[in-house]
Amino acid sequence: MQVTDKQLIKQAIEVASQAYAPYSKFHVGVALLGKDGRIFTGCNVENISYGLTICAERNALSSAVAAGCRDFTKMVMTTDTKEPASPCGACRQVLAEFNPDLEILLANFHGKSVTFSLSELLPRPTSGILDRP
Ligand code: THU
Repeated sequence: MQVTDKQLIKQAIEVASQAYAPYSKFHVGVALLGKDGRIFTGCNVENISYGLTICAERNALSSAVAAGCRDFTKMVMTTDTKEPASPCGACRQVLAEFNPDLEILLANFHGKSVTFSLSELLPRPTSGILDRP
Protein backbone atom coordinates (compact mmCIF):
# COMPACT_ATOMS: atom_id res chain seq x y z
CA MET A 1 0.00 0.00 0.00
CA GLN A 2 1.12 3.53 -0.84
CA VAL A 3 2.53 5.58 2.02
CA THR A 4 0.80 8.96 2.18
CA ASP A 5 2.23 12.37 3.07
CA LYS A 6 -0.22 12.45 5.96
CA GLN A 7 1.27 9.27 7.42
CA LEU A 8 4.82 10.56 6.98
CA ILE A 9 3.98 13.90 8.59
CA LYS A 10 2.30 12.11 11.51
CA GLN A 11 5.35 9.92 12.11
CA ALA A 12 7.69 12.90 11.81
CA ILE A 13 5.68 14.90 14.36
CA GLU A 14 5.60 11.89 16.69
CA VAL A 15 9.35 11.35 16.59
CA ALA A 16 10.00 15.08 17.15
CA SER A 17 8.64 14.52 20.66
CA GLN A 18 11.66 12.26 21.28
CA ALA A 19 14.15 14.99 20.39
CA TYR A 20 16.89 15.49 22.94
CA ALA A 21 17.15 19.26 22.75
CA PRO A 22 17.78 20.69 26.22
CA TYR A 23 19.90 23.54 24.81
CA SER A 24 17.93 24.88 21.87
CA LYS A 25 14.52 23.48 22.93
CA PHE A 26 13.95 23.12 19.18
CA HIS A 27 12.45 19.75 18.36
CA VAL A 28 12.90 18.39 14.87
CA GLY A 29 11.30 15.20 13.52
CA VAL A 30 12.04 13.47 10.24
CA ALA A 31 10.44 10.60 8.37
CA LEU A 32 12.40 9.18 5.47
CA LEU A 33 10.59 6.99 2.98
CA GLY A 34 12.50 4.11 1.40
CA LYS A 35 11.80 2.96 -2.13
CA ASP A 36 10.69 -0.34 -0.60
CA GLY A 37 8.00 1.44 1.45
CA ARG A 38 9.80 1.34 4.76
CA ILE A 39 9.75 4.49 6.87
CA PHE A 40 12.73 5.55 8.97
CA THR A 41 12.39 8.25 11.56
CA GLY A 42 14.86 10.44 13.39
CA CYS A 43 15.01 13.33 15.82
CA ASN A 44 17.77 15.75 16.75
CA VAL A 45 20.11 14.72 19.55
CA GLU A 46 22.00 17.62 21.10
CA ASN A 47 25.22 17.64 23.05
CA ILE A 48 26.65 20.02 25.62
CA SER A 49 29.53 20.66 23.24
CA TYR A 50 26.91 22.02 20.80
CA GLY A 51 29.08 21.05 17.83
CA LEU A 52 28.47 17.34 18.35
CA THR A 53 24.73 17.74 17.98
CA ILE A 54 23.25 15.45 15.34
CA CYS A 55 20.33 16.66 13.27
CA ALA A 56 17.12 14.71 12.85
CA GLU A 57 17.75 14.17 9.12
CA ARG A 58 21.11 12.49 9.63
CA ASN A 59 19.77 10.34 12.43
CA ALA A 60 16.91 9.10 10.21
CA LEU A 61 19.33 8.47 7.37
CA SER A 62 21.76 6.54 9.55
CA SER A 63 18.96 4.31 10.85
CA ALA A 64 17.90 3.58 7.29
CA VAL A 65 21.40 2.68 6.12
CA ALA A 66 21.94 0.47 9.18
CA ALA A 67 18.71 -1.36 8.27
CA GLY A 68 19.95 -1.96 4.73
CA CYS A 69 17.97 0.78 2.99
CA ARG A 70 19.85 3.18 0.70
CA ASP A 71 17.17 4.13 -1.82
CA PHE A 72 14.90 6.94 -0.74
CA THR A 73 12.03 8.67 -2.45
CA LYS A 74 10.90 11.28 0.05
CA MET A 75 11.90 12.98 3.27
CA VAL A 76 9.50 14.81 5.56
CA MET A 77 10.89 17.27 8.11
CA THR A 78 8.64 18.76 10.78
CA THR A 79 9.11 21.54 13.31
CA ASP A 80 6.88 23.53 15.61
CA THR A 81 7.45 26.81 13.78
CA LYS A 82 5.38 29.46 12.02
CA GLU A 83 6.87 28.53 8.67
CA PRO A 84 8.16 25.07 7.74
CA ALA A 85 11.88 24.96 8.59
CA SER A 86 14.58 23.98 6.10
CA PRO A 87 17.24 21.31 6.49
CA CYS A 88 20.73 22.58 7.33
CA GLY A 89 23.45 22.57 4.69
CA ALA A 90 25.30 19.62 6.21
CA CYS A 91 22.18 17.46 6.08
CA ARG A 92 21.48 18.48 2.48
CA GLN A 93 24.92 17.25 1.50
CA VAL A 94 24.56 13.98 3.40
CA LEU A 95 21.13 13.32 1.86
CA ALA A 96 22.47 14.11 -1.61
CA GLU A 97 24.97 11.27 -1.23
CA PHE A 98 22.06 8.87 -1.63
CA ASN A 99 19.58 10.79 -3.79
CA PRO A 100 20.42 14.26 -5.11
CA ASP A 101 16.83 14.58 -6.41
CA LEU A 102 15.14 13.45 -3.21
CA GLU A 103 11.70 14.96 -2.68
CA ILE A 104 11.76 17.09 0.47
CA LEU A 105 8.50 17.95 2.18
CA LEU A 106 8.86 20.56 4.91
CA ALA A 107 5.94 20.87 7.29
CA ASN A 108 5.17 22.71 10.49
CA PHE A 109 3.03 21.12 13.21
CA HIS A 110 0.03 23.20 12.16
CA GLY A 111 -0.69 21.98 8.66
CA LYS A 112 1.51 24.26 6.59
CA SER A 113 3.85 22.53 4.16
CA VAL A 114 6.03 23.13 1.14
CA THR A 115 7.79 20.71 -1.20
CA PHE A 116 11.16 20.96 -2.91
CA SER A 117 13.54 18.75 -4.78
CA LEU A 118 16.85 18.37 -2.96
CA SER A 119 18.53 19.51 -6.17
CA GLU A 120 16.82 22.90 -5.73
CA LEU A 121 18.04 23.18 -2.14
CA LEU A 122 21.54 21.96 -2.98
CA PRO A 123 22.65 22.24 -6.61
CA ARG A 124 25.73 20.35 -7.81
CA PRO A 125 26.36 18.50 -4.54
CA THR A 126 29.12 16.25 -5.86
CA SER A 127 30.32 17.86 -9.11
CA GLY A 128 34.09 17.77 -9.37
CA ILE A 129 34.72 16.17 -6.00
CA LEU A 130 37.47 13.50 -6.31
CA ASP A 131 37.37 14.03 -10.09
CA ARG A 132 41.08 14.47 -10.71
CA PRO A 133 42.29 15.35 -14.20
N1 THU B 1 18.36 20.81 13.58
C1 THU B 1 17.99 19.66 12.93
O1 THU B 1 17.73 18.63 13.56
N2 THU B 1 17.92 19.69 11.57
C2 THU B 1 18.18 20.79 10.82
O2 THU B 1 18.23 20.69 9.60
C3 THU B 1 18.37 22.08 11.46
C4 THU B 1 18.70 22.03 12.90
C5 THU B 1 18.46 20.79 15.04
C6 THU B 1 19.88 20.85 15.54
C7 THU B 1 19.69 21.48 16.90
O3 THU B 1 19.40 20.45 17.84
C8 THU B 1 18.46 22.35 16.76
O4 THU B 1 17.80 21.91 15.59
C9 THU B 1 18.75 23.83 16.63
O5 THU B 1 19.65 24.09 15.63
